[in-house]
Amino acid sequence: MAETILVIDEGTTSTRAMLFALDGQCLGCAQRELTQHYPQPGLVEHDATEIWERTFECAREMVEHAGGASQVAAIGITNQRETIVFWDKATGEPLAPAIVWQDRRTAGLCAELKEQGHEPAVQAKTGLLLDPYFSASKIGWALTHWPQLREAGDRLAVGTIESWLVWKLTGGLHLTDATNASRTALMAIGSGGWDDGLLALFGVPRAILPEIVDCAGRFGETRLFGAPIPICGLAGDQQAATVGQACLDPGDTKATYGTGAFVLTATGTTLPASRHRLLATVAWQLHGQRHYALEGSVFVAGSLIKWLRDDLGLLSSAGESEGIARSVADNGGVYLVPALSGLGAPWWRPDARAAITGLSFSANRAHVIRAALEAQAHQTHDLKTAFAGDGCDWTRLRIDGGMAANDWLAQDLADVLGIEVERPTFVETTAMGAAMLAGVGAGIFGSLQGAAALRGETRVFRPELPQGKRQARLDGWARAVASVLNA
Ligand code: G3P
Repeated sequence: MAETILVIDEGTTSTRAMLFALDGQCLGCAQRELTQHYPQPGLVEHDATEIWERTFECAREMVEHAGGASQVAAIGITNQRETIVFWDKATGEPLAPAIVWQDRRTAGLCAELKEQGHEPAVQAKTGLLLDPYFSASKIGWALTHWPQLREAGDRLAVGTIESWLVWKLTGGLHLTDATNASRTALMAIGSGGWDDGLLALFGVPRAILPEIVDCAGRFGETRLFGAPIPICGLAGDQQAATVGQACLDPGDTKATYGTGAFVLTATGTTLPASRHRLLATVAWQLHGQRHYALEGSVFVAGSLIKWLRDDLGLLSSAGESEGIARSVADNGGVYLVPALSGLGAPWWRPDARAAITGLSFSANRAHVIRAALEAQAHQTHDLKTAFAGDGCDWTRLRIDGGMAANDWLAQDLADVLGIEVERPTFVETTAMGAAMLAGVGAGIFGSLQGAAALRGETRVFRPELPQGKRQARLDGWARAVASVLNA
């Protein structure tokens, strides 16, 4: 009997395959970096062929590690959301670069639609706002500016990354799951179907879009590794992390610190309606029933550390940042507002640009690096305030993602948020959530609740910072953000 689950976790900067035993133990991981293309300031593209080839290599490595395809019970796929791929159904080849979620090329288009008064209706239908982050305006832009897409006629297929990977793995199934579909701004979140009014608003023909399915089930199989392996789990990475953190009951909240930082509070089957610039999103869909979450999306988290390392040369490795942050007593008055691709929630200012404030001759490299780490707690605190305004304040926060492994950062989160912060020993909860969904889809687990034990042990960080120091930090950050918003 097959005793493993293969997870494909296709992120923004790298793609991975991870092999899990049925008790949740991680048996192996293969990872490849992805090339980030920045053709102009504000534009971010990926090569969908590279994504597929590197993902396939990682998956093949893990299938071999399992002892062959017959040893893999199911595949779960989780992915960077909103990024959009255009391909030819006849050849299975991409027709254009993939436009990445960070790409701001449609800022003008979204601003125009906002001025025309469309935002309230878009928010009511989709739970989202008019921002270039979401897929709809990117698809509309591409159909207008890339003639090869129009020339492809009914051979054109469009999808988010899980859709692209399912197509390649199965040789032609065109599906998307409800969580990824809920990030396009083309799905009516309450009904779970593509919406004609939204399709017309963004200029997207229904025929190029995939069919929307649940997050767990038997969607199709791949024969690319020898024996057939069923694809049984599909979810956007933040939703998969929500499941992997066992945030299954209303009020349960997780924050994932990956390329960006994304906080989701589960709201059960009640569709949240934000009055504080947060998003309503599908947390998961099973048997056609949608569970929802309120989401705060922060665009820059781990990518800030990568930028300090690769572009400014201030760090030789991301891990080094923890020791450097500890090497100074405080931030020395320095704040870093990481609006490197505009600001997401709760500000939604695609035009904003990053700033380092409070510099003096007494500031040094360590203060700037510490300010970069402190920015994570501050951005999260801004979200906490917005969630509280929407009646969903957090009493405890479950954290994960690469940056959450940093103990200093985890403690700083507890200090600035003023609540307990809980971190699982195994921080790859995105992959874990995809394994749980695939396990449910394959019938290995009877329910997500039944799969939740896979999460394992956790460590708790408790607030320790004296109130006066905490308030000074919050005030300093508020001044720094104001300077960016008013620049
Ligand atoms: O919405 C974008 C998000 O899905 C990207 O995730 O893991 O690349 O930070 P990540």
